Amino acid sequence: MTKNKKCIGVLTSGGDAPGMNAAVRAVVRSAIHYHADVYIIREGYKGLMAGGEYIVKANWDSVSGILDKGGTSIGTARCPEFKNEETRKKAAHNLLKHGIDRLVVIGGDGSLTGAKEFNSDWPQLLSQLVKEKKISEETARKHPSLSVVGLIGSIDNDVYGSDMTIGTDTALHRILEAVDAINSTAYSHQRTFIVEVMGNKCGYLALMSTLITGSDWVFIPESPPAQKRGGPSWEEHLCDQIKNGRKAGRRASIIILAEGATDYDGKRITSERVKHELESRLNEEVRITILGHVQRGGSPSAYDRNMSTILGHAAAEKILCDPPPDRPLIVGMRGNNVEYILLDDALVKTSAVADAISKKNYERAMESRGIYLKEIYNIIGLLIKPTPRPPEPTQDHYNLALIHCGTQAPGMNTAARVAVRVAIDNGHNIIGIKHGFDGLIK
Ligand code: F6P
Repeated sequence: MTKNKKCIGVLTSGGDAPGMNAAVRAVVRSAIHYHADVYIIREGYKGLMAGGEYIVKANWDSVSGILDKGGTSIGTARCPEFKNEETRKKAAHNLLKHGIDRLVVIGGDGSLTGAKEFNSDWPQLLSQLVKEKKISEETARKHPSLSVVGLIGSIDNDVYGSDMTIGTDTALHRILEAVDAINSTAYSHQRTFIVEVMGNKCGYLALMSTLITGSDWVFIPESPPAQKRGGPSWEEHLCDQIKNGRKAGRRASIIILAEGATDYDGKRITSERVKHELESRLNEEVRITILGHVQRGGSPSAYDRNMSTILGHAAAEKILCDPPPDRPLIVGMRGNNVEYILLDDALVKTSAVADAISKKNYERAMESRGIYLKEIYNIIGLLIKPTPRPPEPTQDHYNLALIHCGTQAPGMNTAARVAVRVAIDNGHNIIGIKHGFDGLIK
């Protein structure tokens, strides 16, 4: 510790997420830029508890060459022991050996809950350390509080406070590549595949990957397949969807299933259960691919590097303020702006979803995830239909044209696909104009 310098620690905790390295690098370098001492805490809360060689003073080069690396170079761990007060006392003692009283925690809701409790316990942990003569009264006076800024590191995008959390975008890329690959083999055999993606209590990855791969069906924990009284079961509905898709010329059928998906009664819907239902009702072979940890690994996407760098920088700036924030904060990206919110609020809003799911209040679960998710769900419902709605005779019909102009850009096909399907589904005619304005003139 350098005299009178601000000292901050940074750690990654819980499941690793691509982009954590970019965040750590930004925290370290921004802190050094602001003349603070910055310590890397290796292996998450486990390292904080162990102290010694796990808490290392960082220099500019400590974070060289990690920006493009997947996972977290400073290590992480799941550490249930951190719930225990005795463990937190050890951790506080280890921080104070270096004069650290500002902490940037990069992790999911469990890790951030740990940070919140650490912050609120800090004064009593220090008074116990004084009583046990492990620290002096002067040390306790010098560090009356522990400032905390959290960054949400989780591929699941399951914590309130950021439109996307660190690692989500990369995980979506992993899923996208895998489903695109599966699509070609499914197409060749006219097969149905069930692709299981991560997300124990959160369907974000499943929902978004259905949207971006044009898959045929999705199961998510927040919105189990509806079961109308007296109507067809979800199993029948799913099989009809696959059958009608085949009739309409779809050769490949892909079902995306979030690992935590359930039915309306809260009973798990496993890949095996879906496979069994399809095979017995459709009399065809179905294959399962469980993507697993491939989704979490590998080099971070451009967006994850970019967002994590901006948020890491923002976290360092905030925590080095004078005075530093007295209540723990989360820094996230919302509507392309860096925003700080109280960690408490973020955790309360996050647990509201799990609470709604456990009470089988699925409407509230979807709403608590934010309007955006519900909207995506509705768009998927529109796009996955094998055939459009039959036109209503009384309705006005328009003739629309679609034209691409200027330089081509990836994503134009996606936009065109949606425009065409929405127009047709609403009973309008839509005509494609080839070769931009030249084609229109000709
Ligand atoms: O929280 C991220 C996550 O990848 C979840 O999607 C998944 O359920 C869990 O972690 C897997 O955890 P572990 O790597 O400890 O098996």
